[in-house]
Amino acid sequence: MRLLHHLFENNVQWAARQKKEQKDFFEKLSKQQNPEYLWIGCSDSRVPANEIVDLLPGEMFVHRNIANVVVHTDLNCLSVLQYAVDVLHVKHIIVTGHYGCGGIRAAMQNGKFGLIDNWLRHIQDIYQKHKSLVDDESAEEHRTNRLCELNVIEQVVNVCRTTIVQDAWERNQPLAVHGWIYGLTDGLLRDMEITIENHEQILPYYEKAVQRLGVR
Ligand code: CO
Repeated sequence: MRLLHHLFENNVQWAARQKKEQKDFFEKLSKQQNPEYLWIGCSDSRVPANEIVDLLPGEMFVHRNIANVVVHTDLNCLSVLQYAVDVLHVKHIIVTGHYGCGGIRAAMQNGKFGLIDNWLRHIQDIYQKHKSLVDDESAEEHRTNRLCELNVIEQVVNVCRTTIVQDAWERNQPLAVHGWIYGLTDGLLRDMEITIENHEQILPYYEKAVQRLGVR
């Protein structure tokens, strides 16, 4: 059996580095986590949540799946969301997509990849909804990236419409939902300018964000 020794070696060195920076780092962290942010991002290995925003362990609660999709029947995602909002009291939920997303590209190509096709149906629905806006772009790469952006906007709205976020706003818990997109080619985040802090903002901010894509 091959036991991946190099990863254990990496781990020992990493832990030592953390301790060198702050002696009681792990001791403190083991007692409690107090993150201000929930990150909902893509599983893509090139989009590591904490590294991108340079946050330490303990500073961000993270949920990742293929193409950062928030589905109202996904018990896994909803449980993460509920725990983050109700128990950890995060102040920000950040949906982060990325350009060149393989999940989005696969959804657009309508190919056969197995079980994942069922998951990607959600993306295909978004493509159908905004077909003219996506097909406006002539190059395939740009069409994919446009759908990556639209997917972020749609998933922000999906987060806002969960009973979890609705109930938090109802009891006046401060909670903002953000939509960001990450560039694989430059390592930079861009704000999709759809930051929603209450129920009334959902529809107008959604419409503005989609409109902005159309006139760019
Ligand atoms: Co992706």
